[in-house]
Order: sequence, then structure tokens, then C-alpha cells
Amino acid sequence: MSKEFDVIVFGATSFVGQIVCEYMHSQYAGHEVKWAMAARSQHKLDSVKHELGIEDVPTLIADASDQESIDALSAQTKVIISTVGPYDLYGEPMVKACVKHGTDYVDLTGEPQWIRKMIDRYEADAKTSGARIVHCCGFDSIPSDLGVFFLQQQAKQRFGKPCDQVKTRVKAMKGGASGGTVASLVNVVKQASKDAKLRKLLANPYALCPEGHRFNAHQNNVNHAKYEEETGSWVAPFIMASINTRVVHRSNALLGNEYGERFLYDEAMMTGKNAKGGLMGWAVTATLSGLMVGAALPPTRWLLENTVLPKPGEGPSKEEQRNGFFDFRLFGSTPQKQHIVVKVTGDRDPGYGSTAKMLSEAAVCLAHDTEMNDVEGGFLTPASAFGETLIKRLEQNAGLTFSVLA
Ligand SMILES: NC(=O)c1ccc[n+]([C@@H]2O[C@H](COP(=O)([O-])OP(=O)(O)OC[C@H]3O[C@@H](n4cnc5c(N)ncnc54)[C@H](OP(=O)(O)O)[C@@H]3O)[C@@H](O)[C@H]2O)c1
Repeated sequence: MSKEFDVIVFGATSFVGQIVCEYMHSQYAGHEVKWAMAARSQHKLDSVKHELGIEDVPTLIADASDQESIDALSAQTKVIISTVGPYDLYGEPMVKACVKHGTDYVDLTGEPQWIRKMIDRYEADAKTSGARIVHCCGFDSIPSDLGVFFLQQQAKQRFGKPCDQVKTRVKAMKGGASGGTVASLVNVVKQASKDAKLRKLLANPYALCPEGHRFNAHQNNVNHAKYEEETGSWVAPFIMASINTRVVHRSNALLGNEYGERFLYDEAMMTGKNAKGGLMGWAVTATLSGLMVGAALPPTRWLLENTVLPKPGEGPSKEEQRNGFFDFRLFGSTPQKQHIVVKVTGDRDPGYGSTAKMLSEAAVCLAHDTEMNDVEGGFLTPASAFGETLIKRLEQNAGLTFSVLA
């Protein structure tokens, strides 16, 4: 069926949605991508268009609390980009509509409990309608998921087999958080503090794997600061590990256990090799634990939300986005002790400048790249949906690099 648009950005008035629109305009204005901006308020859409200087982009209205308007929106495009979050609060109507209309969909959720719910409710119908639903197409989890995919392709070329263990280490990154991201995080912690079943799901490294997966390797996570011989550095917990590790394991399952049934994967931040690195590692551990406890308890949650943390619509400045970056190192090893180190970098702040480019390129990839024609409907991950095709796009257009160091 022919659709009027290639891509609609739903949530165009959100902090990150505006950066997506700016990127879509700068990258694809005058090109073959037909795209539009959508949100629940025409007034806000008009002022965003005016501020960004992109008056000629069509606008559409839809509200997540009105399923009919969401259905109508998803029916007129090949791909929906959704930045309407927290997704656990507002995301389901659009996933439901895309599944119904066979529309492809990408988003920025990092909420494992919501992804699990969407898979359980809509995967069978997505397979029938042909809709490719790809969550986690931002900083979580594209660098990790495509980074591991890239590392395994290289390992197979060099060693004839994939690595059975990969450790992603954040060597450096600079950026900030937005109100929407904070609201999503606080929402998960709040729910988990009241729900033991949810806590169990969040603790399960294979929580997003398809039913009947055969993975049962004991998965060690970095929960506190420690010195690591292999990376030659102190490491500390990385806040995104809780979603990225789940996505990488789902990719392994959807790729036919390509990384092996005993595949181990974890993530952490490198904090330095000397005593200062150790101190920093323990400081990061304490800050993260403090944030989690603070977000779980109503009085401190209120205090955090109303004093320190950014509010919905707020986020890092243009300058912070431009000056931000990330640098991941992935350490892979085979059972025969063959080693490979891969580097993945981004040239803008991870959560916004780079995320907006990754999300947009994922959507355009679905709408335009002929390599995507053979990918069937279902709930996919970045690696299982796009693999090499998106890596090429991200390197060409979005300022990401994927390279082998050793
Ligand atoms: N994975 C990553 O790397 C990454 C990075 C950045 C952000 N994120 C996620 O992306 C999401 C957006 O973040 P943000 O900071 O940009 O959020 P934000 O600025 O708070 O924006 C939230 C958006 O949701 C819209 N919205 C709320 N209720 C709606 C409804 N009923 N119908 C239609 N739209 C509705 C709001 O519309 P109005 O403008 O009309 O209020 C607004 O555009 C969050 O879930 C965040 O966690 C992920």
C-alpha cells in the first residue's frame, strides 16, 4: 500500500524530538525522504518549526490518549519515530497502531519492563502485519548492540568463530540528561520499589529474550568499583547497562544464537588506572546507589525531581550537545584466549546530539534501504534489524565510528 510519508516524527515538540527534526531537515531536506512532524499541540508544533527555521515541513496532530488519532497517524507513513515518553506511560497506543497498520517503528525507550510488555502483547500480530518494531535506537542501545555485532563479525573473520565473552567499557563520555530521560528512569525505579515481580524481571539478564531461549550462563555484572587486569583500569557500574545488556542478549537470540549459547556480556565505566581511578570508581558507585535509593523513596524522589534533576522539556544546551562525545571500548575473547578490542565513538553528546542522529538514520534505513526489504516483521533489536546496513549509515552520516584496535 502506498503511504503519504516515509517518516513521521511523533513527539516533535519533545526535547530530543526537536533535535531529531533539526537533523532530519539538515540531512534530508530536498532529498528523497518525505517526512513530517507530529505532536499533540499545533501551537507548539508551529513554534518549534519557527524556532528551527523549518517552516516547510508538514505537521500532523495526534494525542497518545486518543487511539483513533494515533491510528490515523501511523496509517499514513512507512515509519514512525516516537519520542513520546516515558514510554511506559504514553507509548503503547503508537506501538499498537503500528503493529495494526504494518508500519515500521523506532523509538528511544530504555524501559525493559515496557518492552517486555509490548513484545508479549503485540509480537504475534507484528509478525503477521509485517511491522518492524525496533526499540532502543538511541545511545541506549545502538553503540552497544551494533558494537557487539561489529566485534563478532570481525572475530569470525579473524578467528573463525565469535567471542564467547564481550565486555563493553565506557572509556570516556561527555553529555547531560533531559527531563524526559530522568522521568523515564524515575518511573522505573518507582514501579520497581513497589513490585517484586518487576524487580525480578529487571534483574534477569535474559528478560527480553524470546520464550524458549536456551541461555543460562551465569552472568556477572559490575555492581561496584573494582580493578580489572584485562582492561588495565578501575571500573564502575554504568547506568545504561541494565537496558543495553538485555538488548544485546535479545540480539543474540534473534540472530539464531550467533554469539553462542554461553555468551557472556557486561558493561561498565572505566575510571582510571591509578588510585585516583579507584576513588572515582567508588564515587560513581556511591552516586548511582544514592540516586536509585533517592528515586525509590517518595520524599527524596520529590526533592530530586524538584531541585537537582531536569524537568520535562529541559536538557543539555546546544553547546553541550556540540562539545559532547562518547568513546566505547569492547573487549572480546574466545575460549581459546584469542582477543579482540573494538572502539565505537560518537561525535556529539551521547543522549541527544548523537542519539537524534542514530534514531533518524535508523528510521531512514527502514524506509529506504533496499537491504531492509528482506527483514520480516516482529520486535527486533538494532543488531537483528539493521546490522551492517545501519553501521554504514551511521559512519557515513551520523559521526559514529566502528574500528578494530587490536
Ligand atoms: N535512549 C536514549 O538514548 C534516549 C535519549 C534521550 C531521550 N530518551 C527518551 O526519549 C523520551 C523523550 O525524552 P525528552 O527528554 O525529549 O522528553 P520531553 O521533552 O519531556 O518530551 C516528552 C514528549 O512527550 C509528549 N507527550 C506527552 N504526553 C503526550 C500525549 N498524550 N500525546 C502526545 N504526546 C505526548 C510531550 O508533548 P508536549 O510537548 O505537547 O508536552 C513531549 O513532546 C523519554 O522517554 C526519554 O527517556 C532516550
